[in-house]
Amino acid sequence: MNTGRTPRLTVIGTGYLGATHAVCMASLGFEVLGVDVDAGKIGKLASGQVPFFEPGLPELLAKTLETGRLRFTTSYEEAAEFGDVHFICVGTPQMPGSDACDISYVDAAVTALAPHLTRRALVVGKSTVPVGTAARLTHVVRELAPAGEEVELAWNPEFLREGYAVDDTLRPDRLVFGVASDRARDTLAAAFAPIIEAGTPVVTTDLATAELVKVAANSFLATKISYINAMAEVCEATGADVRDLATALAYDDRIGGRFLQPGLGFGGGCLPKDIRAFAHRAEEIGVGQAVSFLREVDAINRRRRSRTVDLVRELLGGRLDGRRIACLGAAFKPNSDDIRDAPALDVARTMHGLGAYVRVYDPAALDNARRAYPELRYGESAMDVARDADVVVLLTEWAEFRQIDPHAMAEVTAHRRIVDGRHALDAEAWRAAGWEYRALGRS
Ligand code: UDX
Repeated sequence: MNTGRTPRLTVIGTGYLGATHAVCMASLGFEVLGVDVDAGKIGKLASGQVPFFEPGLPELLAKTLETGRLRFTTSYEEAAEFGDVHFICVGTPQMPGSDACDISYVDAAVTALAPHLTRRALVVGKSTVPVGTAARLTHVVRELAPAGEEVELAWNPEFLREGYAVDDTLRPDRLVFGVASDRARDTLAAAFAPIIEAGTPVVTTDLATAELVKVAANSFLATKISYINAMAEVCEATGADVRDLATALAYDDRIGGRFLQPGLGFGGGCLPKDIRAFAHRAEEIGVGQAVSFLREVDAINRRRRSRTVDLVRELLGGRLDGRRIACLGAAFKPNSDDIRDAPALDVARTMHGLGAYVRVYDPAALDNARRAYPELRYGESAMDVARDADVVVLLTEWAEFRQIDPHAMAEVTAHRRIVDGRHALDAEAWRAAGWEYRALGRS
């Protein structure tokens, strides 16, 4: 270490997770070097531009760049030379044609870095990986690093939510340190000293447990969402109201109301692929039965998307072809431009495939959506896409959609029909303005 107290940090992989981690750690006073193989991304970050939408991050990047504590590079050699602690923050997407997660970027980062590690260092995985990865990488690092036993590996899963990434990084609910030695534990404690001093609980454990904490947490959250959406299916069949049901459940402290919002279900770059990868890994290691319910969680979640399409079809009298449909939302959730496994775009594309004339608007994700799905049509505002629409479908609960005046929107649409896929609107206010209002799980 350069000093016993303050390690120098590198952050390898500057996507949502890595860029946020690098900026936040620099803002806490650490010297940080961000590393990525994508020179374009590095160039942008070094000049103060965040290549994705994340509230608060551009401002914090600008501030930390000014301090001189945050720099960026594409060189692993420079990273190894500079850092005492190397955070691996590269993506682990779902493998094409399989439920397994693709850990080739993690392997690539570790094997590119290790041969340059000529002195004591700690390599810390933050990416979400199948249990057992850290143990395997420990051997890889030891074999490839000239410093041999002086280089250790630890796992420190990250729980940040997009849209709240800065706050979640600076003020996490907990830190999890998966370590194989006291030295690794102490080094991690030094690398997170300001956050620990602020009172954040630390769970110190072994490598496998640390890897599992992350997938267990995301599985729990996904299960909670699919649970309430399963209740929505029952409500639909019985004329009951899932919103009132969820409200009543939430008053029980043991259940709680967070992640109990019924609707179109979960998407994004984490929950869907993490539950699939977990189920897949569990099967590989012979405990598939223990988490086989995650397959059902996934199935319930997917059914919400087809049910939303059905609801639109019902409202249109049984046919989608040739009908004009305004889709409000493309991002997988509000305050994000992320369209990975976005329920909103899934629904929009299905309706387009069934012959509807679909127009989509989203406050932040339009560019990404246009690039990924050029076959869809897009508009510049909610009012713009609603013009002459036969039905309006709310798919992502952005604040600006909640604030739409139903009277004003009624002026531009062809018919007053709305499907609220996220229970985001005041049903009474829309009905009072003459709209036929429908929502999943509500009669
Ligand atoms: C998630 C985890 O929350 C985070 O801890 C982890 O590090 C990464 O994965 P994120 O993908 O940013 O974070 O999104 P999150 O806010 O968890 O929402 C996931 C999805 O669930 C969204 O599509 C959201 O619309 C949906 N959701 C969330 C519901 O449908 N109902 C709810 O009650 C809550």
